[in-house]
This record gives sequence, structure tokens and C-alpha cells, in this order.
Amino acid sequence: RAKVTLQRLAEMKARREPIVMVTAYDYPTGRTAEQAEVDMVLVGDSGAQVVLGHDSTVAVTVDEMLVLAGAVRRGVRTAFVVADLPFGSTEVSDEQAVATAVRFVKEAGADAVKLEGGGEARLSRIRAIAEAGIPVVAHVGLTPQTAVALGGLRAQGRTAESAARIVREALAVQDAGASIVVIEAVPAEVAAVVLPHLQIPVIGIGAGPADGQVLVVHDLLGITEGKTAAFVKRYGAIGPDMVAGVAAYAREVRGGVFPGAEHVYSATEAAVDAARA
Ligand code: KIV
Ligand code: NA
Repeated sequence: RAKVTLQRLAEMKARREPIVMVTAYDYPTGRTAEQAEVDMVLVGDSGAQVVLGHDSTVAVTVDEMLVLAGAVRRGVRTAFVVADLPFGSTEVSDEQAVATAVRFVKEAGADAVKLEGGGEARLSRIRAIAEAGIPVVAHVGLTPQTAVALGGLRAQGRTAESAARIVREALAVQDAGASIVVIEAVPAEVAAVVLPHLQIPVIGIGAGPADGQVLVVHDLLGITEGKTAAFVKRYGAIGPDMVAGVAAYAREVRGGVFPGAEHVYSATEAAVDAARA
């Protein structure tokens, strides 16, 4: 398969060909996404939760995200790789945001970076990064990095004020130079209002039909423990399979069943004699 480019993604939107995006955080999930032939892979800061065990995305650092992004990049050949810029790595200034974005391209090989929000300062960051020649994926609606300020991890755009803000921000990030926009946890009716006004591809998550969809891979494979967001659909139950596999191994070691004769190396008699001597 040929490498997925921004141009290809724009063509897909024009042809109404759905764009498939999934998160990945390491080499095997990157490989999984590549082999499943998804169009876009997001090294999400959701990795703070699903692979690093934090209870929010704000704790993950740039250095940690660079490790994850580099591993994903090594597993992905053709899909378009987007890296999340973590909380605190773009807030200080446009200069800080550009410097962070450059690291994800140079050190991890990302094709684009994603940053949350569509307020004035965020638009300035989007402009600065795009002008530096790095494609920007914007993210509006529920923006988990600032969830505390939004009143928690909850759907946005359900009040008149919030719906108007989402429409305003989605249009503003496009004007600021974003190449793609993710809309998260917004009523489908609200997302549908803004969709016809966006020339850039729109990737939805909990936002109803859009040009494409994204889900957290640990959620869709059933690795995430406990309750997931209402918009998640499970396509596997890998978590229980992982536990069952390790538990079966533990049982066999404890029962003297593993290792069996087929799992040991053979040696010459001379080698055994020498070992005894
Ligand atoms: O970090 C992430 O996984 C995301 C997607 C849910 C859009 O930002
Ligand atoms: Na994210």
C-alpha cells in the first residue's frame, strides 16, 4: 500500500470514503494498525492512562510521548502518524509549541502533531506550527487535557453556549491552518451543523458520522478495564485473553508441566561430560 498523505486524506473526504483512525502507543499496536490497513494512527496522550496507568492525560511528559511515538513509527510504514502534544508542552508560547512539534517530527518521525483546543492562544499555536511546515491536527469539543476546566470528562455542546463555542472553534482552527480536526464527545446534531462548513477532514469520536472515526485501541480491543465512554464499541476481549494466557503459563510452571521435552536444547555427550567435570 502507498503511504497515506494529507492529499490522500483530502481526496478521501472529497470522495466520501470514510477515514479510519486508531490510537497506538508502541511497536506492536503500531504494527497492528498498519496490518489492519487503517489510514491514520494517533499516538494519543490517552497513553498516559491506557499504557502508563495515570488517571488523566495531563501527567504524561514530552519525553515519554516521544518514546511511545518513536516505537509506533517503527511499526507503521504507510499509515499517517499523528502525535499528541501533551499538556504543558504548548501552553507557554508559540515558540515552545513549535519547538515541541519539531521534536516529534525529528526525533519520533511523526507526520503531524495534534493539539487540543480552539481558543485564541490555541489558534496562535496552530498558526505557528503550521507555518513551521508541520501539519496540525486540531481537537475540539471534549478536550481531556483541560477537562477539569470543562467540568469533567463529559460530553460538550449540550447547552446553547457550549454548542456555539464548538462551532466557532471548529471553524477557527480550520482558518488558523489546521489540516484535520478531531471532534470529541459532541451531540451528532451539533457536529452535523459544522461539518458542511469544514473543508478539512473531520475525524469524530463520540460525535456521530463524520469524514472519519477514531477510537482508543485498548478500548476497542477490550484491554481497558472497567467502564469506557458511551461512544466506545468493543470489537474484541483481549484483556481477559491476556490474563488467561499468563494464568495458564503460571499453572504449568507450578504444576511442573512447563518446560516440556520439546522446549529444551540438546547437547552432545562430550558437552555434558565436560559440564560435569
Ligand atoms: O489521546 C487520544 O486518544 C485522543 C483521541 C481520543 C482523539 O486524543
Ligand atoms: Na489525546
